[in-house]
Amino acid sequence: MKHDTIVILDYGSQYSQLIARRVREANVYSQLVSWRTPAAEVMALQPNGFILSGGPNSVYDDHAPTLPDYVLGSGLPVLGICYGMQLLAYKLGGRVAGSQRREYGPATLLVDVPENPIFTGWRLESGDDREFQQVWMSHGDKVEVLPPGFLPLAHTPNSLYAAAADMKRQYYAVQFHPEVVHTPQGSRLLHNFVRDVCGCADNWTPANFIEEQVAAIREQVGNGRVVLGLSGGVDSAVAGALIHRAIGDQLTCIFVDHGMLRQGEALQVIETFEREQGMKLVAVNAVEEYLEALDGVTDPEVKRRIIGEKFIRIFEREANKLGQIDFLAQGTIYPDVIESAGKDKKEAHVIKTHHNVGGLPDDMDFELVEPLKLLFKDEVRRLGAELGLPDSLVWRQPFPGPGLAIRCLGEITWERLERLRLADAIFVEELRRADMLKSGTQQSFAVLLPVKSVGVMGDGRTYQEVVALRSVTTEDFMTADWARLPYDLLAHVSRRIVNEVAGVNRVVFDITSKPPGTIEWE
Ligand code: XMP
Repeated sequence: MKHDTIVILDYGSQYSQLIARRVREANVYSQLVSWRTPAAEVMALQPNGFILSGGPNSVYDDHAPTLPDYVLGSGLPVLGICYGMQLLAYKLGGRVAGSQRREYGPATLLVDVPENPIFTGWRLESGDDREFQQVWMSHGDKVEVLPPGFLPLAHTPNSLYAAAADMKRQYYAVQFHPEVVHTPQGSRLLHNFVRDVCGCADNWTPANFIEEQVAAIREQVGNGRVVLGLSGGVDSAVAGALIHRAIGDQLTCIFVDHGMLRQGEALQVIETFEREQGMKLVAVNAVEEYLEALDGVTDPEVKRRIIGEKFIRIFEREANKLGQIDFLAQGTIYPDVIESAGKDKKEAHVIKTHHNVGGLPDDMDFELVEPLKLLFKDEVRRLGAELGLPDSLVWRQPFPGPGLAIRCLGEITWERLERLRLADAIFVEELRRADMLKSGTQQSFAVLLPVKSVGVMGDGRTYQEVVALRSVTTEDFMTADWARLPYDLLAHVSRRIVNEVAGVNRVVFDITSKPPGTIEWE
């Protein structure tokens, strides 16, 4: 392995993935694993240190998640966060107690030992002769008595031990959440822990990743042949370029035009990959086939399942035409894997079955190649740039595998798809014109609702469909806020859609964050 690794044991905190991101932002590879993962599997990752995440339990609960022996047995540095802190303290002979007052939200951290290595580089604000900083708290229980060997490092008005450490054994513990943006110096703390305490080098870089993956893909594939479903989106494009780098013409890309793409997209995909990237590409027009299969279907999960299955069937059909094909490659990324809570993750709920993970039928007879499945979106983009893909592709807004099918709520007909496509193109065009497409919002699109409303145009009554505009700002697509688009821009887009898109007489703007909403409507 060409990189150092931090293992994060997941105790079920809603912020666990954020810890992984923050560590990777320090150019150190991190992997989130369930605390139940067998020791041998975890140690095979050759970690340089451990982070224990937060979680909803109390250490005294029946069946509370425990700290596996191999963690302390490894002699490696450990950082416990929230529940992770309590677990560490409990295991090492400290005492944890239910708090009289729950502490949730921002808190003022008073740093008592600012020279401790985890506080290196913190910009502390001085007040009341103390060094203080804002941190984010979210806990009921807290550590009441530190284990032998631990010294307090910081406190809040409500938590005597908001940070503590056993410097000899390199055990650190914080009650607050350094991984969230509401702890402004939190990513610096994680950076300090992984780089200085664990001694990791900053060797998690796109170039290293490419080198490792090229070797891994070659080893997995051997002389076999691979097909990749190209959607035109960033993920499959980057996966394609990476696999192409590893095995050249052993890779054939199949691009299925299911009729649910954005305006002009099919042509653009063919041009980019065939002409510019020089990849072997089979383009299939399957529009009729999809429309037939989706006829009368309105349930989102059924739509997703049909599209996912059909995709594989068409693949198999096209692949058969190509002769012997051994592997199916996919642009699955980390958030897809997490959100499509797998069969092995009993506690997590399935939010929606993402096309490229859960939607695969069981009887699929290819082996999978998924070189991006441990990467976050921003890492995929950096990788794409390193692989020489054009900016227009690397920075394209994400588009779901099932395409417009899950934005065309209710029944899918060609007429409704065309309506949606045009409304979407107008919205995106105006955003681009306002220079808000690349940096102002991370994902913006139109949704066609299965409702009609009454309007008046000229002197006549109209009874037509409604378009919703969805525009979000997000760091990782796992949580998102609705974008505060300028009213004038919204007014202009609304006017254009109602005037130019036949069959639409009303436009609404979605002001729901995620959670509780999701980014897509289905
Ligand atoms: P949600 O709607 O779950 O979306 O908040 C999060 C991100 O994932 C995209 N998305 C998908 N991507 N296949 C994909 O490749 C899918 O089935 C799928 N469903 C949602 C969505 O566009 C957003 O960026």
